[in-house]
Amino acid sequence: TVGNSTNIFWQESPIGKLERQKLLNQKGCVVWITGLSGSGKSTLACSLSRELCTRGKLSYILDGDNLRHGLNKDLGFKAEDRTENIRRVGEVAHLFADAGLICIASLISPYRKDRDACRAMLPDSSFIEVYMNMPLALCEERDPKGLYKLARAGKIKGFTGIDDPYEPPLNCEIEINQKDGVCPMPSAMAGEVVTYLEDKG
Ligand code: PPS
Repeated sequence: TVGNSTNIFWQESPIGKLERQKLLNQKGCVVWITGLSGSGKSTLACSLSRELCTRGKLSYILDGDNLRHGLNKDLGFKAEDRTENIRRVGEVAHLFADAGLICIASLISPYRKDRDACRAMLPDSSFIEVYMNMPLALCEERDPKGLYKLARAGKIKGFTGIDDPYEPPLNCEIEINQKDGVCPMPSAMAGEVVTYLEDKG
């Protein structure tokens, strides 16, 4: 029995992971970008994906907001829905990485235990957690979608950082910070991640 299913069996694929790696000339992994709304997750995801493309590396972005238009459209923002959201995206990211892609997941993913559960799905060192550590005040000032404003006005309940929790990573691989009160350029953030990926092969 697995979950709610009984009498199920694992079917082996005829093509192994190593064969796929050879075909694509790259190793699959998951770059998991976490942080508050407006912290720059999507900006980094896009810049990183472009940078990898110019280096001949295939990536694919799993964006929280986008996935909520399809795969996760039955989920809201209460704690158990966010947990299920992250679990599903973790499973999909695992599949993409297994297929040989550099999967860039960009979600608030506010709960540490949920992110750690995603990490646990992947082989050692193929889950790279990137924390967009930007002050709430900055995210709120940017407010690209006007959602902080609505949350402050009480028109959105349970908004991350306002009246819903965000648990920062304790041991992430990469942390993006402001330097002297200035945010790094998207290309600089992407460069930092690319360097990390190159160093780790
Ligand atoms: S989560 O917490 O990981 O399940 O969220 P995620 O799937 O990444 O979706 C976050 C985007 O949903 C919009 N939104 C909200 N965010 C936080 N809290 C509440 N209550 C909320 N309601 C809607 C918002 O546009 C988030 O997008 P980003 O890209 O993070 O700004």
